[in-house]
Formats: sequence, C-alpha cells, structure tokens
Amino acid sequence: MMTLQRDEYFARSAHDTLDLGKTFASALKPGDIVALAGNLGSGKTQFVIGICEGLHAHGHIASPTFTFIHEYNVAFGTLVHIDLYRINKRSEIDELGIEEYFRDDCICMIEWPELIADLLPSERYDVKIAYGEGENDRRIVIEKTA
Ligand SMILES: Nc1ncnc2c1ncn2[C@@H]1O[C@H](COP(=O)(O)OP(=O)(O)OP(=O)(O)O)[C@@H](O)[C@H]1O
Ligand SMILES: [Mg+2]
Repeated sequence: MMTLQRDEYFARSAHDTLDLGKTFASALKPGDIVALAGNLGSGKTQFVIGICEGLHAHGHIASPTFTFIHEYNVAFGTLVHIDLYRINKRSEIDELGIEEYFRDDCICMIEWPELIADLLPSERYDVKIAYGEGENDRRIVIEKTA
C-alpha cells in the first residue's frame, strides 16, 4: 500500500471536525471508501455527519438487519455509514457482506475499520483522529492511499 497524499489538521471543537468533514466531502467521488480510525469518542461520527451534510445526504435508511449500517440517498447514488463498534466476532462481520458496498455508485464510510482490515481495498482514504491536549482538541490526519 502506498500513501499518495497526507494532510494534517487540528480541530479545536466538535464543530471544527464537522466542518472539516463537510469540506472533505467535496473531494469524494462515487466508489470512494473512507476508513475512520480513532479512540472512543474521538470524533469519527462528527466527521461522518460533516460528510453527510457536505453531500446533502437525505432519506436515511437504517438497514433492516443491521442497526449499525445506515444508507443515505445522495446525488450520485448511495452514501453508506458502517459502524463496526461492538462487532467483535469475525463470523458476524462475514455475514454483513460489506464488500457489496464497495461499488461504483456508493461512497462508503467505515468506523472501526481495523476490524475488517483484510477486506478493505488498498485504494481508500484513511482518516485518523487522535485526542489533543485540551478536552476539545483533536489532531486529524487524512491519507489517500493506493
Ligand atoms: N474537536 C472535536 N472533534 C470532534 N468531537 C469533539 C471535539 N471536541 C469535542 N468533541 C466531542 O466528542 C464527542 C465525539 O463523539 P463522536 O460520536 O463523534 O466520536 P466517535 O469517534 O464516533 O466515537 P465512537 O467510537 O463511540 O463511535 C462528541 O461528544 C463531541 O461533541
Ligand atoms: Mg462513532
């Protein structure tokens, strides 16, 4: 795997992180995969909400089978948010059929991507969020890999 681009940002509030997600969304194209890593409560979902806003996501559909998969309608097709927190059994992950979302009319956002590291295409965005010094400080690194 190769890193094509690496950008580092510092957010000082949840709003900053959401805004960064919103701005980042404009770079996304159908078929893109965004893997969001970071400790509990670091802000992965804030960033996802920003992407949703940036892409004018609407028509939220919760998967009938899996509460941690959410689909939204967007201009080019489907925006999918998969949150693998609490999934710890590999057998459960295999049942999800996550690869079905790795297709040209989907943008796929995945929280806790470590759990499916072997399934993730090498061409993707890795968003890594880490706590900073202050309570609301976060360091956000966005890497484009191939
Ligand atoms: N700079 C910041 N960026 C993002 N969130 C922040 C920031 N500062 C404070 N917060 C707060 O931290 C929390 C982040 O929650 P969020 O659900 O986005 O985290 P998460 O990484 O998705 O957690 P989980 O692993 O539980 O899914 C929110 O309560 C938010 O208000
Ligand atoms: Mg979350």
